[in-house]
Amino acid sequence: MSLGELMAFIAYLWMLYHPLKWFGDFYSFMVRAFAGAERIFEIVDAPSEPFDHPNAQRVPALEGAVSFEGAAFGYDPGKIVLRDLDLVVQPGEMIGLVGKSGTGKSTLINLITRFYDVSHGRLAIDGVDIRRISLRDLRSQIGMVAQQSFLFNGTIAENIAYGKPGATFDEILRAARAANAHEFIVKKPDGYDMVVGEQGDKLAGGEKQRISIARAILHAPRILILDEATSSLDTPTEKKIQEAIQRLVKGRTTFAIAHRLSTLRSADRLVVLDAGKIAEVGTHEELMAREGIFYNLVKTQRETSAVMATSG
Ligand SMILES: Nc1ncnc2c1ncn2[C@@H]1O[C@H](COP(=O)(O)OP(=O)(O)OP(=O)(O)O)[C@@H](O)[C@H]1O
Ligand SMILES: [Mg+2]
Repeated sequence: MSLGELMAFIAYLWMLYHPLKWFGDFYSFMVRAFAGAERIFEIVDAPSEPFDHPNAQRVPALEGAVSFEGAAFGYDPGKIVLRDLDLVVQPGEMIGLVGKSGTGKSTLINLITRFYDVSHGRLAIDGVDIRRISLRDLRSQIGMVAQQSFLFNGTIAENIAYGKPGATFDEILRAARAANAHEFIVKKPDGYDMVVGEQGDKLAGGEKQRISIARAILHAPRILILDEATSSLDTPTEKKIQEAIQRLVKGRTTFAIAHRLSTLRSADRLVVLDAGKIAEVGTHEELMAREGIFYNLVKTQRETSAVMATSG
């Protein structure tokens, strides 16, 4: 190969290099573009997070009347979870939500907190369509004592004060007393300054629950949601928690999901969900006398606990 041929070869190689490199770049560009497009479709397809209506109404002081008017909802289009919901709840009333697993109890709660919007019909609070209420006003007046209590790795006092930013120590103390938490807190080495660990894992289940009840008492929401823990507690702790809950629900519109049906005796009315619909509404006594779905659930639960008591 002469020098001239070599130079020509290098020149042609150089000319080939750019198109090849271009293909390489184009390929990696397309891969990124497809990955990006996939993410865009994931977001487009996801149910939309409810947002403030352009003329959202400020409701700084809710009464707490809640009404479902022919409401229906499904997480996925074409797959209805709750339908034909008609229910008028008075301010201050306590509703116990009952039904087998998967019947939509948590879903109904998700509509009240407006994590989702109804797909048909209407849900109104104090007569105002929930979609027109300022989200901030709505959420600041709804309190939740959930199955998993949302404790963060701070002190007991900080965890209680989360219910009311800027609360004084005196207020924290009063809330802890009302929640039957004070007596166990003062027995801890650091008392109210005890650091509770990630998700409060240095505390017992019943202690965590009482701290979240104290937090809710301090928050003093108009609408309260209770999602009872399934874990069984010893009887004295159970009694203390029940007492604390009695104090907490007083005068607030409350929706309580309880797995032990006996704990819903104090509810003003029970709403029994079955197959995505309201199947029965009434007091504990009324529903027991009716011998329908609720009656059978209670009977099954009694039989199960009797079996567990004799075998355990
Ligand atoms: N985020 C979601 N996306 C899609 N489907 C959901 C979602 N959450 C719940 N579902 C479905 O909606 C139905 C009702 O569920 P929901 O959680 O309301 O039941 P539940 O009565 O609270 O049950 P449990 O007593 O077990 O807590 C179920 O079929 C469930 O699979
Ligand atoms: Mg649930």
